[in-house]
Amino acid sequence: MNRVLIFDTTLRDGEQSPGATMTLSEKVRMAEQLERLGVDVVEAGFPAASPREVAAVRAVAAAMSAPAVAALARTVDADVDRAAEALEGAARPRIHTFLATSPIHRERKLKITREQCLERIDRAVRRARSYVDDVEFSPEDASRTELDFLCEVVRVAIDAGATTINIPDTVGYAHPTDIAAMLDALKGSVPGIDDVVLSVHCHDDLGLAVANSLTGVEHGARQVECTINGIGERAGNASLEEVVMALRVLPRYRDFETGVRSERLCPTSEHLAAVTGIRPQPNKAIVGANAFAHEAGIHQDGMLKDRRTYEIMTPAMVGARGSDLVLGKHSGRHALADRYRELGFTLSGEELDRAYRLFVLLAETKKVVHDEDLLAIYYQGTMEDAPRSFRLEYLDVHCGRRPARAVVRISHAGGPPVEAAAEGDGPIDATFAALGELSPWDPILEEFHIDAAGEGKDAVGNVHLKLRLAGHTFHGRAASTDVVEAAARAFLNAHDKAEHARALEARSFAQTQYWGV
Ligand code: KIV
Ligand code: ZN
Repeated sequence: MNRVLIFDTTLRDGEQSPGATMTLSEKVRMAEQLERLGVDVVEAGFPAASPREVAAVRAVAAAMSAPAVAALARTVDADVDRAAEALEGAARPRIHTFLATSPIHRERKLKITREQCLERIDRAVRRARSYVDDVEFSPEDASRTELDFLCEVVRVAIDAGATTINIPDTVGYAHPTDIAAMLDALKGSVPGIDDVVLSVHCHDDLGLAVANSLTGVEHGARQVECTINGIGERAGNASLEEVVMALRVLPRYRDFETGVRSERLCPTSEHLAAVTGIRPQPNKAIVGANAFAHEAGIHQDGMLKDRRTYEIMTPAMVGARGSDLVLGKHSGRHALADRYRELGFTLSGEELDRAYRLFVLLAETKKVVHDEDLLAIYYQGTMEDAPRSFRLEYLDVHCGRRPARAVVRISHAGGPPVEAAAEGDGPIDATFAALGELSPWDPILEEFHIDAAGEGKDAVGNVHLKLRLAGHTFHGRAASTDVVEAAARAFLNAHDKAEHARALEARSFAQTQYWGV
């Protein structure tokens, strides 16, 4: 087996994603997730950039025991010294020094000659080796560097003591055949190249980062640099979860393995999304919300007969919560019957015919049909008709200090207003706790999302949530420029639907009785 090392740069290159900045404690908690995931190297930051980065690298270094901790440094003495200093407490410290080597960077940005470039690399790598045994060198923009000069650069770095040579496709400009040619040239002409770890670091400007990384592995790379959810500078870096699962699932990589515990991939992805607020798009491979969802009728039918018809890996392999059969207009009768069974209803052939007719009509107008809609169909109505029987009369929230406190007043079905007060971890938690006290059911919050519609400080907050009420899940939604108010209204919207389902159920029951006479 060939072991491919996974070098995670979520905390360094990933953090360069707009909006992905993490606090020191968030970085440490993320690094702990990465250690649990089983990555080999955690790149913790760029100490010369700021005192905050020094502190973050120091804190991550102190928290890690299994993975090596890397700190980035330009090929200048002060950077290398700062990186060494920040890594002092690390069990397995690595200094990662880099210098751009392409003509455009040498001539336009750095204004140095080829010779000066080689001198800088030699000096920085030697200095790094005086501090630690594990030194990585990266010729930035390697994929736009003249191939003969790239070989010269790598030779100098190895002579100076580099133990890992990383080849970055900094601007995501390489095609897999370019990566293959670069690595083949290095392997074929640089003395000592077989004694160091060859690595690839690919950006995703043309969507080729994962393909390029895998090609790197096929051509001798034994380290891949990547990030969780593929976050990173501009279009991001190669996505860790995609690289790891391609190496695990595709037969062509049967001789390769990583140390990643793949069932930790989704939890790690969710952790990052929660910390940064940057969610992967729903159709993102491996960790997207729809990665294991099947909507088309033929697909759902196949899945119900044998999951392998449309699943190349199981949700369990990547720690996804479960494969969803999302009901939409492409869904078939089998899937509908199956979902009803999961909801606790076994439909007769006739009932299924009727439900399917109504379902198709509804699916024409709604993108996704929720369980509550199926309940309504079953009870012969539609959820869109749910009358507003729960009204928010008053909401007062105090936060800023923990715990937050909320007072709510609601009325129900035209009755007198009732009031409750409660505390919570934040304003929304406190509001839900107070509303929960007034609920006729025992609400369980299953999901909560908030998105901004529009831009600027007067953007409207759209709240979507799922509440479990009286044994069924109801979807509530509301919008307001005040997100706490929107959350309260969404909570009550789910209650309106539960009430409506109850009314429909009663009506259906009455009709059944009538027909039964
Ligand atoms: O993309 C890049 O070239 C980098 C280097 C610092 C490795 O991130
Ligand atoms: Zn990069």
